[in-house]
Amino acid sequence: MERVVVTRRLPGTALDRLSEVAEVEVWPERLPPAPEVLRDLVSEADGLVAMLTDRIDATLLDAAPRLRVVANMAVGYDNLDLAELGRRGIPASNTPGVLTEATADLTWALILAASRRLREGIDAVRSGDWLTWEPDWLLGHGVGGATLGIVGFGRIGAAVARRALGFDMEVLAWSRHPKPAEGVTFVPLEELLERADVVSLHCALTDDTHHLIGADQLARMKPTAVLVNTARGPILDQRALAEALRDEEIFGAGLDVVVEEPIPVDDELLTLPRCTILPHLGSATVATRTRMAEIVVDNVLAGLAGDPLPNSIG
Ligand code: DGY
Repeated sequence: MERVVVTRRLPGTALDRLSEVAEVEVWPERLPPAPEVLRDLVSEADGLVAMLTDRIDATLLDAAPRLRVVANMAVGYDNLDLAELGRRGIPASNTPGVLTEATADLTWALILAASRRLREGIDAVRSGDWLTWEPDWLLGHGVGGATLGIVGFGRIGAAVARRALGFDMEVLAWSRHPKPAEGVTFVPLEELLERADVVSLHCALTDDTHHLIGADQLARMKPTAVLVNTARGPILDQRALAEALRDEEIFGAGLDVVVEEPIPVDDELLTLPRCTILPHLGSATVATRTRMAEIVVDNVLAGLAGDPLPNSIG
């Protein structure tokens, strides 16, 4: 029987379909297998279901001589060395489409949290610092009628933009490949940063987008603006963000992704009250994660059968 390694437990029953045709080994821990442990696990694997926390590179692939398919349980695939997979003729897939709406919803949760200072409010309730109703306490900025700037206009950026219309927002976008969209004006990145009240990052992490937003870009933003990142941590220079928040160059930030996940508990960003950080929850709804699990299984089954992958990224 063929062998498939799955690097984390999956929600739903998708793996039952896989177990009918292959021996399935699921890594049972909450933490990912360490690279050397994963190398050992895949030594006889024909298929691999990987998470965004697993680095699939030449070293790993050297240890997996039988591997014929890698299904990544994420839409982003910066954890895969696609060139190396391609060289070895191993097809790979991602899980596009099904997490668009869930991630757009969470982006909006962060936009509102950052603009209306929810973290500080929740902290005050818990610590007893909520003394009474005060006319000038914890004042934020409303998003109704404000300007939203979307950096990277793929599926998720477009879904965030659609929601903005309900807030009567003007929507600006920047993309290397602009596709006309109703109610969206494409502008250069510098202009977007200068005009937007909310800047939301939605591009893929590549060599070109690493630190796309750094000190110079943050300095262009309005002091009343908020920055939200639900894409990938390294798109944003986190040290520059900490400085911009400390110096009140921008009003607040909401991050669902950070450079090192989990963020070290002594990271300066965690001490800054205007910074809300979530533990990479963008796609975390029951329906979305269940669907993602079904998709990775569809792709592994296709790979094992030698068929083209339905969600090929190779
Ligand atoms: C993805 O799929 O790339 C997301 O970051 C996972 O939530």
